[in-house]
Amino acid sequence: MTTAAVIDGKAFAENLRARIAVAAAQFEVHAGRKAGLAVVLVGEDPASQVYVRSKGKQTVAAGMNSFEYKLDDNTSEGALLDVVERLNADPAVDGILVQLPLPSHIDEQKVIAAINPDKDVDGFHVVNSGRLSVGLPGFVPCTPLGCLMLLKDRLGSLSGLDAVVIGRSNIVGKPMAALLIAESCTVTVAHSRTKDLPEVVKRADIVVAAVGRAEMVKADWIKPGATVIDVGINRLPPEPGSDKGRLVGDVDYADVAKVAGAITPVPGGVGPMTIAVLLRNTLVAAHRNAGIVLDEAAL
Ligand code: GUN
Repeated sequence: MTTAAVIDGKAFAENLRARIAVAAAQFEVHAGRKAGLAVVLVGEDPASQVYVRSKGKQTVAAGMNSFEYKLDDNTSEGALLDVVERLNADPAVDGILVQLPLPSHIDEQKVIAAINPDKDVDGFHVVNSGRLSVGLPGFVPCTPLGCLMLLKDRLGSLSGLDAVVIGRSNIVGKPMAALLIAESCTVTVAHSRTKDLPEVVKRADIVVAAVGRAEMVKADWIKPGATVIDVGINRLPPEPGSDKGRLVGDVDYADVAKVAGAITPVPGGVGPMTIAVLLRNTLVAAHRNAGIVLDEAAL
């Protein structure tokens, strides 16, 4: 029985952050200022607070400015839109990220639409999804771009490969499919209504699982030697005597690793890539906003 190679996203993200730190220091010399990322958090969702703290720390560690805006749970939509407008106009701010989810009284799409697309380092604005769709430079959502970097690092050219993306969200599934099409893969997007899902997945040279269902993808769904990217982060119910359940992906790791050629673990696979790519997008935004050339492909 073979065992899949482990794709070490944690190590890849560390290397990417080191390259970003070098480029950020060069940007500061040329621009006479640091690149800056503004993160807006509304409310006190504990998971969001952890993410935002981690983003702030990693931004500063990469040699960029971090501007954090923490707003009350009951902040009105109008007040949040005012903050976004101020950040759009602020020349020290290259990237704007409004942490999702927002409280239910705020229309997320309206807030995303208010962000200047050239500061939309999350890549969530329809202008950026349109740019991705037609192959124009813009910003690509961080998690799927991180998955693509891991795939290209592992496989080199993806041209002609069969890829199956499980999940059709605006944040992962749809942009992942667009990225793989741009790499000349033959792409299938599967989802909860897909017929014979295991059969569909079994055709794939590349599987990207982003459905949010713990350990759903099994070994007998996988073509031997396929590359499997697991975007899921699911917490299992706690074992007796423990207060926290194990963190697992959408892929049954131990099972699938017997068949796949390579696989990302959870944790330590795709997860660490997201913030590293956010820093990359922010530095790219800074160069574009300042009119300074950056070899984006080398980052
Ligand atoms: N909430 C969870 N992940 C993300 C992300 O990547 N961007 C934003 N804006 N909110 C999130």
